[in-house]
Amino acid sequence: MKDKIYHNKFAGFYDYFQHGVKGDVNFYLNYFKNFKGKILEIGAGTGRITIPLLKKGLDVTALDISSRMLAILKEEAKKERLSPKLVLADMRTFHLKQKFEAIIVTFRAFQHLYSVDDQLKALKCFKKHLKPNGILIFDIYTPNLKYIQKGDWQWHKDQDINLPSVKGKVRIDYRNRYDMARQMMNQEYRFSYPGGRKEAVPLRMRFFFRFEIKHLLRLAGFKVKNLYGDFSKSKFKSGSPEMIWIVSPERK
Ligand SMILES: C[S@@+](CC[C@H](N)C(=O)[O-])C[C@H]1O[C@@H](n2cnc3c(N)ncnc32)[C@H](O)[C@@H]1O
Repeated sequence: MKDKIYHNKFAGFYDYFQHGVKGDVNFYLNYFKNFKGKILEIGAGTGRITIPLLKKGLDVTALDISSRMLAILKEEAKKERLSPKLVLADMRTFHLKQKFEAIIVTFRAFQHLYSVDDQLKALKCFKKHLKPNGILIFDIYTPNLKYIQKGDWQWHKDQDINLPSVKGKVRIDYRNRYDMARQMMNQEYRFSYPGGRKEAVPLRMRFFFRFEIKHLLRLAGFKVKNLYGDFSKSKFKSGSPEMIWIVSPERK
């Protein structure tokens, strides 16, 4: 992540306007019901998923590249009398002394890896930190022609939000354009404050096609156990909004 957008721009707003993908928190809670192993969450951010897992008594280490996002996680965890293990690191290059039974890369954090080199570096790093029978889970969105066509750089309303430091509603709009050659979604969020001030924040995400991920995983030494098309575990098919990959290290 070269642009550090979460760190510099989103951290203070994040929990007020990003709510993840439908069903993601419950999916992880169910998946790890009665799980005894250690879990490493990559791109844990402000702890939207980490904290519910910790509250169930799970052993979760939260890794993120942004100290501001992690500081919010720490603060939120403190309110619940939890003290999570936090790691400030880049998912492409981290080195931890322990190995984990599970690694989860939550809410499309993998899509912040823009080049094939970065994607492979990260996958290899995950593999190095997984126990031989460990599991890696990550979710990404499925590129949808309808949205790609709509990506005409026109503003669309997202939502109105309340921020503790602002009197009145803050309106959020977004606009998207797609670079098909680079498989990048270039997005801008615009925050309009009651007094008239406006701030635009750019966000870039790499989008992936199904078999591209399969090849990446094979190159990095993973085998696919399951691919779901949404967080209620529907089979991945045409029109599925998400790809939820459940993979494990290939044995030599
Ligand atoms: C969409 S947010 C997801 C936050 C959280 N998992 C959630 O579900 O709300 C993506 C997170 O990935 C982090 N991130 C982006 N690039 C990263 C990298 N190279 N290494 C580690 N974390 C990264 C960002 O700082 C941000 O907190």
